[in-house]
Amino acid sequence: MFGYSQEALGAESDRLHQALRHAGWTPSECGLIAPLTLRIRDLARQQRAVILGHSYQTPDILFGVADYRGDSLGLSRIARDCDADTIVFCGVRFMGETAKVLSPTKRVLLPNPDAGCSLSEAITGEDVRRLRRMHPDATFVCYVNTSAEVKAACDVCCTSANALAIVEAAPTDHVVFLPDTFMARNLAAMTTKRITGFDGRCIVHETFSAEALAAWRERVPGLRILVHTESPPEVVAAADLAGGTGDMVDYVRRSPDTSFMLVTECGLADRMRVEYPDKSFVGTCALCPHMKRIDLRRVLQVLEAPRPEQIVQIPPEVQAGAAAAIERMFEWTARGQDASRPHSNAGEVHRSSNP
Ligand code: 13P
Ligand code: SF4
Repeated sequence: MFGYSQEALGAESDRLHQALRHAGWTPSECGLIAPLTLRIRDLARQQRAVILGHSYQTPDILFGVADYRGDSLGLSRIARDCDADTIVFCGVRFMGETAKVLSPTKRVLLPNPDAGCSLSEAITGEDVRRLRRMHPDATFVCYVNTSAEVKAACDVCCTSANALAIVEAAPTDHVVFLPDTFMARNLAAMTTKRITGFDGRCIVHETFSAEALAAWRERVPGLRILVHTESPPEVVAAADLAGGTGDMVDYVRRSPDTSFMLVTECGLADRMRVEYPDKSFVGTCALCPHMKRIDLRRVLQVLEAPRPEQIVQIPPEVQAGAAAAIERMFEWTARGQDASRPHSNAGEVHRSSNP
């Protein structure tokens, strides 16, 4: 396939298996995807494209083709700072939009433009304008899981890595935090500021329960339970750490413990199994149907011949406002680093060794 020699395909298959075996991939499964990963890497080189993979992507994407893997904050910084003509964002739509807002001169491609997010879809720019009329005294903070239009209507954006630092840096005592109702409640428990929330939810993280965590703790002695802050407050309260995906990666990296339960999308545990084969990752996780809409064939197709809807465009009337909200996030976190979260300024990002 694609004219690669048997020797090149064999070497690629071996390379893939070295990593993917830790996530349960067999040599023959690696052999099947080897022509695709070789072709994708060749096209990326020819087009000066950088491939970004969010930690919820499958291991064949993260360890087969991505140049960088990481959390939403780290990847948006790479998108802004990297020297590339094209960014292929293996993640959901709002991530591609954020990359485009930060890098208007780069071509940003989404392998699957239908990959949405229940949080992002929970709120519109019109909702924000209505809330602003109701709360003229408040600083409006939106989670990065929002459309560019919503970001443009807010004062500042944040990610799960820096949400507390942003709320603390807000110039007012009253903060309207949009749209994740659980994150708003989790933040309210950590700050003296008055937080007004909205009714958005992540369809993945709303499914976890404190009872399930307690049962796993009993079953596995010494288990460390790490929970994403998009989860309900009672689940967060039962955790050893609550944070974003980058905080979880950092905790696993630093911890002398060996058993972890990552209460988040299943892709993160697969990524950790590959990076830390000597540690064990057990228990509950949930699949994000949006994140799982991306696969190698779509990555190849978008590099070969992107369809118009796969090329991210930001409406001109939204660009400046959205860019200001994101840049303000970088400025405010630089001022008020959250000491308990080493990634709150920069995000978590790992440069891959993919050839
Ligand atoms: P992070 O910001 O922690 O990478 O998470 C993004 C996301 O979509 C969580 O569900
Ligand atoms: Fe959105 Fe939840 Fe999927 Fe993250 S896991 S992209 S918040 S639906």
